[in-house]
Amino acid sequence: MIGAFEIAVGSVYATDTISERFRTGTGFSWGAHDPHVLGGCERFFRPGYLNNLTSAWIPALDGVEAKLTAGARIADVGCGHGASTLLLAQAYPASSVVGFDAHQGSIDAARKRAADAGLSDRVRFEVAAATTFDGHYDLVCFFDCLHDMGDPSGACAHVHDHLTPGGTLMLIEPFANDDLSDNLNPVGAAYYGFSTLLCTPSSLAQEVGTALGAQAGEARLREIVTGGGFTTLRRVAETPFNIVLEARAA
Ligand SMILES: C[S@@+](CC[C@H](N)C(=O)[O-])C[C@H]1O[C@@H](n2cnc3c(N)ncnc32)[C@H](O)[C@@H]1O
Repeated sequence: MIGAFEIAVGSVYATDTISERFRTGTGFSWGAHDPHVLGGCERFFRPGYLNNLTSAWIPALDGVEAKLTAGARIADVGCGHGASTLLLAQAYPASSVVGFDAHQGSIDAARKRAADAGLSDRVRFEVAAATTFDGHYDLVCFFDCLHDMGDPSGACAHVHDHLTPGGTLMLIEPFANDDLSDNLNPVGAAYYGFSTLLCTPSSLAQEVGTALGAQAGEARLREIVTGGGFTTLRRVAETPFNIVLEARAA
């Protein structure tokens, strides 16, 4: 939870600017925030990834754990400081792992984290948007970032075109129910606050500007993912802070 407070502290530096941007609708990009927002985000989400990603979430996907253990290609899109990317590289040494993020400063931080962990030879980090990254992958992941994107449906369509046959999109999103009234609890309240200051302005600063927000819920996410060309979406896991969804390429 300390990470959540660090995000909150970092967020307040931009509140005056964001208030103004609400009037103009121009948004505020993720990378323009105080470094405590980005560092706090890593600190907030990483424990959930550490405790669930390779022990529960990957095994819950259809046939993915065996592929990754044998050696597969993984892309972590919107990877931020690379917390999830490094966990995947550590757990599946036969697989190749690349992290993409649109923000140069986050990619610089991720490369440093990889070097500090002695993983630079097993993982690669590149600046690229979710609608432009290159290569083909057996598993593409969006960790707590699809809703921050200007064009989440376009991002899903790009993933669909860059999955190998039978490949998997794993979507990790902040926990949310479909109805506003079901999100009026402490976790939902915190996420609506962060969504107002961080996620929605981030999307509005990009092309299309869908402004999905951090509390979209599974029904709305299904519209986004199927709008990108996937025909199925399955909830495979959840924690108090995250829902984990799986979409498969035909
Ligand atoms: C809430 S952070 C999550 C970072 C990381 N995945 C994690 O879980 O800690 C959202 C990330 O999405 C990135 N992002 C936003 N829009 C993007 C886009 N269109 N393409 C690629 N990355 C994007 C931001 O730069 C930021 O690093």
